[in-house]
Amino acid sequence: MSKNIEIKSVFKIKNVGDNVSISGWVKTFRSNRFIALNDGSCLEDIQCVINFEEIDNEILSKINTGTSLNIEGEIVKSQGKGQSIEILVKKINILGLSDPDKYPIQPKKHSFEFLRENAHLRVRTKTISSVMRIRSEVSYAIHKFFNENNFYYVHTPIITGSDAEGAGEMFKVTTLDLNKIPKDSNGEIDFTADFFSKETNLTVSGQLEAESMALGLGKVYTFGPTFRAENSNTSRHLAEFWMIEPEMAFYELDDNINLAEEFIKYIIKYVYNKCKNEIVFLSNRLIKEEQNIPKNERSELSLEERINFVINNKFVRITYTEAFEILKNSKPNKKGKFKYPLDNWGIDFQSEHERFLVEKYFKSPVVVYDYPSKIKAFYMRMNDDNKTVRAMDILFPGIGEIVGGSQREERIDVLKDRIKSLNIDEKELWWYLDLRKFGTVKHSGFGLGLERLILFITGMSNIRDVIPFPRTPKNADF
Ligand code: 4AD
Ligand code: MG
Repeated sequence: MSKNIEIKSVFKIKNVGDNVSISGWVKTFRSNRFIALNDGSCLEDIQCVINFEEIDNEILSKINTGTSLNIEGEIVKSQGKGQSIEILVKKINILGLSDPDKYPIQPKKHSFEFLRENAHLRVRTKTISSVMRIRSEVSYAIHKFFNENNFYYVHTPIITGSDAEGAGEMFKVTTLDLNKIPKDSNGEIDFTADFFSKETNLTVSGQLEAESMALGLGKVYTFGPTFRAENSNTSRHLAEFWMIEPEMAFYELDDNINLAEEFIKYIIKYVYNKCKNEIVFLSNRLIKEEQNIPKNERSELSLEERINFVINNKFVRITYTEAFEILKNSKPNKKGKFKYPLDNWGIDFQSEHERFLVEKYFKSPVVVYDYPSKIKAFYMRMNDDNKTVRAMDILFPGIGEIVGGSQREERIDVLKDRIKSLNIDEKELWWYLDLRKFGTVKHSGFGLGLERLILFITGMSNIRDVIPFPRTPKNADF
């Protein structure tokens, strides 16, 4: 008997008559005769048919949904519908028992809420395992794209002293005894007694350090976990998410947008080809799910159609001011349908505005650029109008913002003015300012939220279902 092979390979090779050894978890066990087995290597379960004479009743009595098995048998042409081959079982080794009354993942439809409570077992469902296979392929495609385009992969720190986004939404990192916090003579916390002898936090972005790397290596990217203590309990926010941040010397805003568009299309195209089965499965899942909501709320395009649309069409590009005018004069704004009405130029767009632009007005991904400086971070390059900065956000259907980026302020005087006007401590950024003192050059970059991209590709509606173990306010189980 050959050694254990993956079920995916069995389907691929399909050599009728071959003897194989496969292992996996039982999805269903019907009529004491048919086992649907899955080992995670592909979406499809393989049907294993038991010949009563060959298998002991005692063994059969131990097989339940969730049991792990090793099966030795022969590949035969399938008698049943829906599969081309199946396994005629010759021998079964029980690897691990499963109590059918207690195993949460029964062969029936479970709500995503229920599955989140069982996040340690939910990857055994077809939906979550499809999402996780796609997540893996997306990650691979990201490295592949940058590698093919001469970018260097750099690792920026996870523990940092800087607040790159200036939004103050940081998790503190400390070894101080919280019951006995040392205070200085002013009654303030004495961080000199802390591990790093200064205040530190988990990074909200690797950008500032990536800029330093780019201004020597040319083109770099980071790809790592990012932490934000924003108390947003939405279907698009995580407290721990993964971000991809390329940073390129000599790039201006246009180059930056072009790269972002090319990059996103490359990833989606790669994954669409690589994970066709999963995407078709998820597309059908979505159609079924949407049958429960009113017709006018259903997506106009299926998941596959949306994916193809993004791959094949150029993203719309408009300035903040153009977007503002469209939104201000839009029906929902005039009729008071927006929760946040738009009246004065300069306000930040909310997700309802972004989705109106993308889903109703343009029906296409939209790049909005040249935002008011007041609503953007200190590092973005000031335009000549002294009111807007060279920022760009990419907005996606069903999601809203998927990318945020900018051309960086490379002029030290302008940067110092910005830092001062935002009351940021210049001393903390001494090294960042150094980059503008020694051979400063124009440069740009952006951040793509990995989970938001996966939401788009999988058609899932909650970001908690596209990362194995989500961290959100009041939830860090597992
Ligand atoms: O727009 P953001 O805050 O940009 C930055 O952090 C820049 N430093 C990036 C850069 O220029 N290098 O975040 C970038 C992206 C967002 O567009 C979004 O996709 C994702 O990160 N993101 C989140 N994803 C999940 N949960 C959250 N709480 C997120 N916050 C941002
Ligand atoms: Mg942003």
